[in-house]
Amino acid sequence: MIHITINGKVVQAKDGEMLLTVIRREKIDVPTLCHHEAVEPSGACRLCMVEITKPEWDGWCDYVTSCLYPAADGLIVNTHAKKVNELRSSILDMYLARHPKSPEIRQLAAEYGVLKTQFEEVVDGDNCILCGICTRICDTMGFHAISMVGRGHGKEVAPPLNMAPTACVGCLSCAKNCPTNYIEYNMENGGLTIWKKDFEMVACTECGKTTITKEFAEYLSKNRDINIDYFRKCDECHRKELAGTMGRISNWDREARS
Ligand code: FES
Repeated sequence: MIHITINGKVVQAKDGEMLLTVIRREKIDVPTLCHHEAVEPSGACRLCMVEITKPEWDGWCDYVTSCLYPAADGLIVNTHAKKVNELRSSILDMYLARHPKSPEIRQLAAEYGVLKTQFEEVVDGDNCILCGICTRICDTMGFHAISMVGRGHGKEVAPPLNMAPTACVGCLSCAKNCPTNYIEYNMENGGLTIWKKDFEMVACTECGKTTITKEFAEYLSKNRDINIDYFRKCDECHRKELAGTMGRISNWDREARS
């Protein structure tokens, strides 16, 4: 274990643990848009920036992305130094210019005092901030169905050749974890459409509620060793069944003791 100081408080950390992990453990609020615990950090959004220094640095300090900077013994971290807040405001100002219609960006920018961007707005732009959470999650799950394509202003997230990706199983991990809710999907008439691909949903045999796509159920069954029959019931019906079984066990236990 090592010791670092965050906002004046000495805390323990594991050597090499990323600063953002320690900061979050201390329940200090640092904004992030590209961070997700399930995937490797990428340093894309720059919002998690903090000020760091050490006593032996003679007053010199540096500004680093805390999601990618490893904790080291004796490090002194300031998560909301004046310059850090100014840097975050400037970054959010640029995000606001690029994605003026995004409610999430507008709210975050407002928290840092940016109500109107000083840059020219991209009025017909979309809400994809290119944080890469969707592609990293898809890669981590082993599907590689979407990726970043293009360069500069034309850079975007898309499936290969912009066609329905054969590798996508409709797990919705990309859409559900997108920080700006940019990735669209439709769930209608017992089906799902995402990335121009149509999926059939598995319906619960008890209540009829649709649960996951047939492809995702088959993938989980094959790769995570889960019996395919498990997916024939929704979580709620599984819980009801479990509660019924537990109730029968405790009744049996009570009756056996009386
Ligand atoms: S969380 Fe986005 S750069 Fe660190």
